[in-house]
Amino acid sequence: MKVLVVGNGGREHALVWKIRQSPLVKEVFCAPGNAGIAKIATCLPIETSDIVELADFAQDARVGLTVVGPELPMVLGIADEFARRGLPIFAPTRAAAEIEGSKAFAREFMTRHKVPSPRYEVCNSLDEALDCCARAPFGFPLVLKADGLASGKGAVVAHDRSEAEAAARALMSDKRLGQATAKIVIEEFLPGEEVSFLVFSDGQKALPMVSVQDHKRIGDGDTGPNTGGMGTVSPATHLTLDLHKQIMAEVILPTIGGLEKEGRRFQGVLYAGLMITDKGPKVLEFNARFGDPEAQVILARLKSDLVPVLQGVAAGQLKEVKLEWAKEAAACVVLASAGYPDAAQTGQEIRGLEALDGQSDVVAFHAATAQRDGKVVTVGGRVLGITALGASLPAAVQRAYEATTKVSFDGMAFRKDIGARSIARLGATTAR
Ligand code: AMP
Ligand code: GLY
Repeated sequence: MKVLVVGNGGREHALVWKIRQSPLVKEVFCAPGNAGIAKIATCLPIETSDIVELADFAQDARVGLTVVGPELPMVLGIADEFARRGLPIFAPTRAAAEIEGSKAFAREFMTRHKVPSPRYEVCNSLDEALDCCARAPFGFPLVLKADGLASGKGAVVAHDRSEAEAAARALMSDKRLGQATAKIVIEEFLPGEEVSFLVFSDGQKALPMVSVQDHKRIGDGDTGPNTGGMGTVSPATHLTLDLHKQIMAEVILPTIGGLEKEGRRFQGVLYAGLMITDKGPKVLEFNARFGDPEAQVILARLKSDLVPVLQGVAAGQLKEVKLEWAKEAAACVVLASAGYPDAAQTGQEIRGLEALDGQSDVVAFHAATAQRDGKVVTVGGRVLGITALGASLPAAVQRAYEATTKVSFDGMAFRKDIGARSIARLGATTAR
């Protein structure tokens, strides 16, 4: 079978890497891909937003399964376009992907289906937002979120009224996100520990993946602005078996059932970004896709063939599928460009990648890289995700950090504390 993967980040490199290992797969294409993906798949010069061109290619090349990484094509309706043409695709429909595409829809949906969430208000104009900042109905800090897609950079934590007003003005007139947002959601700040909880869903059944903790802030000790994610570890040691059961019962199943009831059947990866508070798990956000860099550690730990799982989801039949996971832990350390998450410096040559070729238990998943004049260069903020397996979490983290010393580019920045909190908690009865 031929498989087409849509996307160009580290998540898509991990997907291509895993899909290539399947005996069911003869050829893998990736649109548009990156320098690392180009070594193991045929890259196509089609942007992720060109959904008609992607469908044309899948049709002409007789692609047996298309797998979509990022949210943009989902929100643009790639699954709907493929379904119209009878082409198998692993991606939720536009209606189902709204759970990620609109923060206001997602919050109101969670209220309707009693999914545990922070208190919030939806503001439809700058005046409403400024009024909310002045009233501070949940006290400070407040969290302000742009309604649309923002690559993980649309949430601002404001500590007082003037910060909140500045954030509301910035989000609504937008300089940072490149487009204005007509709506924002203002919500209660929840203290606690975050966990990423991902499941495969065929619309009714949910198959949970291993637990993951992302590190969203740019700086060590969780300081500085939010990013798309600076590193991940799996397992997340605060996810106990009891919490796992509670999240399935209170968050995942009501959400999948609620989407089905509202005519938005969800087939794909449902990713709940959760805060574990002292009052239990609460949803910070839903994503309609694999996380990046969550996918890198999840797929490194997945022992089963991924392709039958993706096919089961696409066909709406996960009944027969079982997932087998490695006992080893995994860690991913993201190497970023100077300036990220604001304007990132690009065009820097990446040195030393060959030192990681062929190493067992370490993979350098490429994100913003491209091949230019025989060199691999940086083309964006998050450049590489150095991913390692280890017999224990500390071993995986240590192996990933050792591997980072082999590669370099000017301005290379990364967090030095990926996994530190999960390691400090080792010994708890973790789910997986
Ligand atoms: P989101 O775009 O909704 O995932 O938010 C990005 C990040 O902002 C989350 O991963 C959290 O670190 C933080 N965040 C979002 N909402 C809240 C909240 N209500 N309370 C505390 N932190 C939050
Ligand atoms: N790593 C967070 C995300 O993919 O949204």
